[in-house]
Amino acid sequence: MPRAVKFDHYGEIDVLRVVEVERPVPKPNQVLVRVKAAGINPGEIMIRKGVFADRWPATFPSGQGSDLAGIVEEIGSAVKNVAVGDEIIGFTEDRASHAELVILEVGHFVPRPAHVPWEQAGALFVAGTTAYAAVKAVALTASDTLVVSGAAGGVGSIVVQLARNIGAKVLGLASAANHAWLTDHGVIPISYGDGVAERIRAASGNKIDAFVDAFGGGYVELALKLGVAPDRNDTIIDFAAAAKYGVKSEGNSAAANAGVLAELAGLIEAGRLEIPIAKTYRLADVREAYQDLEKRHTRGKIVLVP
Ligand SMILES: NC(=O)c1ccc[n+]([C@@H]2O[C@H](COP(=O)([O-])OP(=O)(O)OC[C@H]3O[C@@H](n4cnc5c(N)ncnc54)[C@H](OP(=O)(O)O)[C@@H]3O)[C@@H](O)[C@H]2O)c1
Repeated sequence: MPRAVKFDHYGEIDVLRVVEVERPVPKPNQVLVRVKAAGINPGEIMIRKGVFADRWPATFPSGQGSDLAGIVEEIGSAVKNVAVGDEIIGFTEDRASHAELVILEVGHFVPRPAHVPWEQAGALFVAGTTAYAAVKAVALTASDTLVVSGAAGGVGSIVVQLARNIGAKVLGLASAANHAWLTDHGVIPISYGDGVAERIRAASGNKIDAFVDAFGGGYVELALKLGVAPDRNDTIIDFAAAAKYGVKSEGNSAAANAGVLAELAGLIEAGRLEIPIAKTYRLADVREAYQDLEKRHTRGKIVLVP
């Protein structure tokens, strides 16, 4: 029987279990995919803890995960243009990708280009579409200077590369361990903590046009203090500050579709985007994977491989 990650009630990491489940059967407009890689995201931690129970309640037993890449194993009776054996990159809205076999709706997957590694493919959807939406939200041009907090994380590492592709000057806030990675990707690394505003002003020549906050905890206020206009200030996490100051809070939902996923996969294929893979874990080690992610110092993505 195939295995899947499940939890029966909200709680800490020990509620996560890897259990055997019935083999899923695709409906007419669905496909069944054998997962090769599935990314994990901080939002799943909040859902599992029940922090979002008002907005996005779980139904139990709940699965986990949105992102995946894999091989089509079975197709529904009405499915056209995809065949058993095709390699795809996709997403599920059913919290189900952390499993060996996953059902996907038609329209929720794109072909995996030949040179996109499985781990990067499986980690692409949530972080990639969120980064895409954030860069779009701040209306970046080649003459702009952008500051990004959490610049080496899952979302931030993609934001900085998309911004560099546009031609913008990019300052990335990160700890010293990530400075070399940022420099290698054309980004000016800036250490966060005391004196960060002065370091940003000095490195930017005091011309800061846009800010993407991928970390929270005061960066919206910092951007305003640096003179960034509210409509060029996007946070993907600090929704209270967004409401208070009227800045943007565009994230995943603004770009969560197969068209954007295909565009991002195309950038990887063309060598214009890289998803840094911090570590891969076996599905059976899902608790260790989330313990790692909860430290909030991941470079790029952590990926489960069944
Ligand atoms: N709204 C949406 O649609 C949406 C979608 C996806 C994610 N999110 C949220 O966005 C946030 C980022 O997600 P993610 O997947 O990118 O997380 P992540 O991969 O865990 O990245 C965290 C990054 O934050 C950096 N960091 C740690 N302390 C910092 C500090 N004090 N100042 C600045 N950066 C710091 C870390 O870099 P160092 O190791 O260099 O410190 C690390 O690279 C999460 O809160 C997540 O829930 C929202």
